[in-house]
Amino acid sequence: MCGIIGLTSKANVSLAVLSTGLKQLEYRGYDSCGIAYVDDNQLNIRKSLGKIIELEKQLPMTVTNCAIAHTRWATHGMPSLANAHPHHHGMVTLVHNGIIENSSKLKEELGNEQLYGQTDSEIICAYLDMLYARCHDHLQALWHLEQMIKGSYALAVIFGDALDGIYCVRKDNPLILGVAEDSIYLASDVSAFIEHTDQVVYLEQGEIALLHEDQLSIYDKNLQLSDYVIERSLVNKEDVRCQGFKTFMLKEIYEQPTVIARMLDMFCPDDLQQLKDNLLDISKYDQIVIVGCGSAYHAGLVGQILIENNLEIPVRTYLASEFRYANINLRSDTLAIFISQSGETADTLAALRKCKIMNIDTLAIVNVIGSSLYNEAKYPLLTLANKEISVATTKAYSAQVLMLMLLIIRSGLMDDPTLHQKLLALPKVITNFISSLDLQPLVAELKDKEHAYFIGRQIDHAICLEAALKLKEISYIHCEAYAAGELKHGSIALINENSVVFANIDEQVVADKTLSNLAEVAARKAKVFCISSLEDVAADIKIPRVKALLQPLVTITFYQLLAHEVALIRGCNVDQPRNLAKSVTVE
Ligand code: AGP
Repeated sequence: MCGIIGLTSKANVSLAVLSTGLKQLEYRGYDSCGIAYVDDNQLNIRKSLGKIIELEKQLPMTVTNCAIAHTRWATHGMPSLANAHPHHHGMVTLVHNGIIENSSKLKEELGNEQLYGQTDSEIICAYLDMLYARCHDHLQALWHLEQMIKGSYALAVIFGDALDGIYCVRKDNPLILGVAEDSIYLASDVSAFIEHTDQVVYLEQGEIALLHEDQLSIYDKNLQLSDYVIERSLVNKEDVRCQGFKTFMLKEIYEQPTVIARMLDMFCPDDLQQLKDNLLDISKYDQIVIVGCGSAYHAGLVGQILIENNLEIPVRTYLASEFRYANINLRSDTLAIFISQSGETADTLAALRKCKIMNIDTLAIVNVIGSSLYNEAKYPLLTLANKEISVATTKAYSAQVLMLMLLIIRSGLMDDPTLHQKLLALPKVITNFISSLDLQPLVAELKDKEHAYFIGRQIDHAICLEAALKLKEISYIHCEAYAAGELKHGSIALINENSVVFANIDEQVVADKTLSNLAEVAARKAKVFCISSLEDVAADIKIPRVKALLQPLVTITFYQLLAHEVALIRGCNVDQPRNLAKSVTVE
């Protein structure tokens, strides 16, 4: 997903503020980058393929008081200098994050305007220039542009006849404004400017922001000046620093106990009854659907099994990309739960909007306040994982699972007198476990493998799905998770002496079944590992046993750390895996 940072300032600001800010957005994934900056009343544009450090080599040691910069993750058009942002046509220079769905139609209206690239972003740059040439009014031109374009966008625009100002508009893509002492910032993500200010303004859809020196003006859809609220961002400087850890992922794995403690302190510091203050009673619904992508989907599967086991409400978990196109008619007494770390995942957003059209109650479990999903759900619930930098989610996933557990407890498990203490004990159990783990034998076994399999039943299968995704997405080992009982129906054909198979066994009632599945693959010469918290299971890795409801939070930390160590030894870029973006804001 692309990244944007920009600023206007009363003072002169080093270009390094922009390039450093872009580096805070690298986790989003990119293949080119660029900057447009005003120096001595001239607008200069520099672009580079590859990493930001290549762009920095092109930048003079100078200052600016008006600049926009961009990292591009190619969607329309290959990675190339022509397709890199900022784009420039006539009086308009802009950077764009998102996808313009009707760019071809807009292109037709451009007539014989020569385009130098193949991107939808360049088309709207030229189109805005055409609109401005007609009306000679910045706000009017932007207003008309917003009426014409369809799709998702976050735009930052500098007009050639106003080189001391930046205009911003957004739709279905985040753009946050930062108010500093002598500057105004704009960015896709607060982390790009958090070193300079934590005072933020969330630009609403349909609003137009104008940044000028240290002044911020916001215009409503009628182009009238409107008030705005300055809030203190939940992101803090520590979130965007590695703080001595080898990677952000490792830092965020070790942060999980703190996140759990923070959420318990927020929702039930003294006793479980306090959960009623902030959490919805989901037991009043006759059925529940849970929707998400990737790890958020896996968290949903954990939630599904825990809800069915503890509240006896039928639950179905969907991949958002499937749900949004499925012919589903949900009954009015359904609750739809949407899970998303970023709150901007296009498929999950579309699924939420589909449910809102059906007048279904929507609850969102999101990690970013002010995100689209957070703003649009009827019942938004903020996980307190703070900023998650690593593309491979860990602490945010665990926070999602914990939020589902708290919803279940709130809705029907508050009678257990020991449960509150068991929740409060979790951070220490996890800290002690992950600090004591010796993974080297397993890492040695895995590091040169090309295939790894994870098998389990019931909630163990849900854990296996997340375990497989963690390992595959950062080590590039081909990993598959299977319901253990499914192996015999075809997949066991893949098993041979080069296979490594992990069996996750936390679910007591199906432990023997999974153990026999593990024996079946061992009989075919696979290298097998039993991962279990159960006392009566001989495990290669013994996970500390906690209440069954809470067990996934402890068990998953083993797989997160294993994936991290294997990826490191394979020389992979753990925090920014190839081809991946932190938030998939396109279909
Ligand atoms: C998980 O490690 C991946 N980064 C990915 O599967 C992610 O969970 C998925 O893209 C959903 O993102 P979201 O939680 O921001 O919606």
